[in-house]
Amino acid sequence: MKIVVGITGGSGAIYSVAFLQALKQAGVEAHVVMSTMGEQVLEHECGFTREDISAYAERVYDNRDLFAPIASGTFKMDGMIIVPCSMKTLAAVATGYSDGLLARSADVTLKEGRKLVIVPRETPLNQIHLDNMLKLSRMGVTIMPASPGFYNHPQTITDIVGSMVGKMLDAFNIEHSISSRWGE
Ligand SMILES: Cc1cc2nc3c(=O)[nH]c(=O)nc-3n(C[C@H](O)[C@H](O)[C@H](O)COP(=O)(O)O)c2cc1C
Repeated sequence: MKIVVGITGGSGAIYSVAFLQALKQAGVEAHVVMSTMGEQVLEHECGFTREDISAYAERVYDNRDLFAPIASGTFKMDGMIIVPCSMKTLAAVATGYSDGLLARSADVTLKEGRKLVIVPRETPLNQIHLDNMLKLSRMGVTIMPASPGFYNHPQTITDIVGSMVGKMLDAFNIEHSISSRWGE
């Protein structure tokens, strides 16, 4: 299985790191593309560099590299997730403005009818943000706000992040035991 993982400059880079670690553990190939701000916020929030991320990825692409395989629908992959997704990249995907590899890869995922999961991060939301999410949802995109539940009584940040990562893995039908399920 191959998944494209887009990392943008929304807050919550920790979710992308935990998701990539879980993919590696599950034996799923991650093809990572980070926006410039994605890389900077990742370093600011987690102290992770591009080199650190490459330990969990099959490949890490430059966002300016529109010649990369993931820019084409001919590249066989099972879906894409954008985590965290800034409101800027959300707008780019909703309007088909593919100025970089990350937005182009999301555009390709949509045109090929493949699974696209977006983990938007902003609060509060304005009408532009909500309109963009509704538009994409109507196109079949899974809109999964980074909004962890507290009903399983998380004790640590790892537990809180894990509850979101479990949902992201579920969206791609990837088996995991990272988070507990209600009633089990
Ligand atoms: C520390 C930090 C946190 C940010 N958090 C958010 C956020 O949660 N949501 C958001 O939409 N933008 C956030 N931004 C602003 C985006 O990084 C900015 O809009 C950027 O242009 C997004 O570009 P990108 O989508 O290409 O990564 C943040 C910026 C910084 C410096």
